[in-house]
Amino acid sequence: MSYVITIDGPAGAGKSSVAKRTALELGIKYLDTGAIYRAIALILAKSEIKPDNEEFLREALSEIKIELRGSSVLVNDFDVSGEIRTPEVDELASIYSAVPAVREALLSLQQDQEKYGSIVAEGRDVGSVVFPDAKIKFFLTASPEARAKRRYLERINKGKEADYDKILQAIKQRDENDSKREISPLSIPKGAIFLDTSEMNEDEAVNFILEKVKEALKH
Ligand code: DC
Repeated sequence: MSYVITIDGPAGAGKSSVAKRTALELGIKYLDTGAIYRAIALILAKSEIKPDNEEFLREALSEIKIELRGSSVLVNDFDVSGEIRTPEVDELASIYSAVPAVREALLSLQQDQEKYGSIVAEGRDVGSVVFPDAKIKFFLTASPEARAKRRYLERINKGKEADYDKILQAIKQRDENDSKREISPLSIPKGAIFLDTSEMNEDEAVNFILEKVKEALKH
């Protein structure tokens, strides 16, 4: 029988790497819902469709085809996987994902992924709204400072420029946007296991999750 594991939490808590590795260890699919929000935000911004223009937005959303192929995201058959990982798209995704029409349009696309087998879904509302009946739910977080430090080191290690204070400020701003929005605010889903990774490395977080999943799968 297929099952769903959800991992929600704020930006930079290590969700992506932990979710990816958990899926790999369990031999199941990884669903990066943030990538879908990023892709849609990118295409809407490129098309100059403002987030407050509800009518235009709905029309545009009905014409956009988003597809997940392995770890790639395709918009109207065009692979945007590389383009969506920039600080500009961080900000755009945070803005457009607060729009009800955008969330509605992306809900069934996310839920449909369950049809293709077991998944580890990662996002902001996957345990509360998208897969409320998931087998096991996690809420992964870390202090804003710990998350900013990770993002900073990630960029430096990739040979990119980075400013710790700016990253910290951007993280706090995104937390504020994601938590205060009216629709699907970032929150701890009912029944989720809370995990603060501020003082943990990735291996420890993955092992913690795998232990809990194995226990849950016995029942
Ligand atoms: O996880 P991420 O940084 O790739 O997410 C990008 C943005 O999309 C972030 O601002 C929150 C939003 N998002 C969301 O609202 N709901 C999700 N399930 C996933 C992401």
